[in-house]
Amino acid sequence: MLMSTTSPLERSACAKVILCGEHAVVYGRPAIAFPLSHLRARARIEPSGQSFRILAADLNRLYTAEHDADRSLIRLAAATLDFVRATHREQAGLPLAALRAQLTLRSEIPAAAHLGSSAAVSVAVARAVAAYVGHELTPAEASALAFEAEKMHHGTPSGIDNTVVAYEQPVWFVRAADESNAGAPHIDPIPINTLPHLVIADTGLSTPTRIPVGDVRRGWESTPAVYERLFDRIAEVVNAARQALLAGDWERLGRLMDDNHALLSELGVSCPELDTLCEAARRAGALGAKLSGGGRGGNMIALARDAQHAALLREQLLVAGAKRVM
Ligand code: MEV
Repeated sequence: MLMSTTSPLERSACAKVILCGEHAVVYGRPAIAFPLSHLRARARIEPSGQSFRILAADLNRLYTAEHDADRSLIRLAAATLDFVRATHREQAGLPLAALRAQLTLRSEIPAAAHLGSSAAVSVAVARAVAAYVGHELTPAEASALAFEAEKMHHGTPSGIDNTVVAYEQPVWFVRAADESNAGAPHIDPIPINTLPHLVIADTGLSTPTRIPVGDVRRGWESTPAVYERLFDRIAEVVNAARQALLAGDWERLGRLMDDNHALLSELGVSCPELDTLCEAARRAGALGAKLSGGGRGGNMIALARDAQHAALLREQLLVAGAKRVM
């Protein structure tokens, strides 16, 4: 029988950055993403005298299993508990509310900045709840649970965010063929020895992913042939970027990042602030620059030649208006 622990425990999950292929990945094309292990969401869970609750400490919000059953985090916690019971062949179990525990959530990942904040929070919550009742989730299990929560937030996510966050390694990702995602996505860890020197700069504009994703969806519905052609061209860039990554050919990777940014602009998901930062990075000698993630704000990435050049790019991006640079 599953037993809940009697001492506090903490589980966490990292942020992510998309190297290339965002948006087209929602339509079955490949994309490449990297984990950002130094930026994390943390879920600490401990016994309490009351029924199950989640304190989102950064937002100062409290959600209880009794009163907020429709909240995505409470639904995720309940789904995690059900999953663990099914895995351990426990048919009948106590409802989530009967779990006398408080989960406290804190995140270092800026929200709505396209760094995978919602996926990281979901993976951390699922891991903590499962661990509390004695089960350590595998990356595939954590990713699948977080994917359900991502659907509540974003409508039609590809699944790349929850995947890279749960596996915490560079991934090549192709979503499952059908829209219901009944099939498994194709996930391929990318075995690279040297990571490219990426500088990540924040426009300071918060844009929920569902907004640009929804706009692309409407464009695709009205002129599918135009959008399918753009997605195909993005797929060519991503395939070439994988080769460049594996070969450590940073000059080529940089040019491909520029091409990807141009195609994303054609899709309508860039904005003046992202274009300004990309141009500033290129003027400062970046090998390439592009928006990363949903777009219309959030973060862009620039490829530096080495660590020293990355420091210079950082300075120039701050001068050009970046609110923060990693
Ligand atoms: C978000 O990080 C990446 C998008 O391609 C959306 C998705 O894949 O779900 C914009």
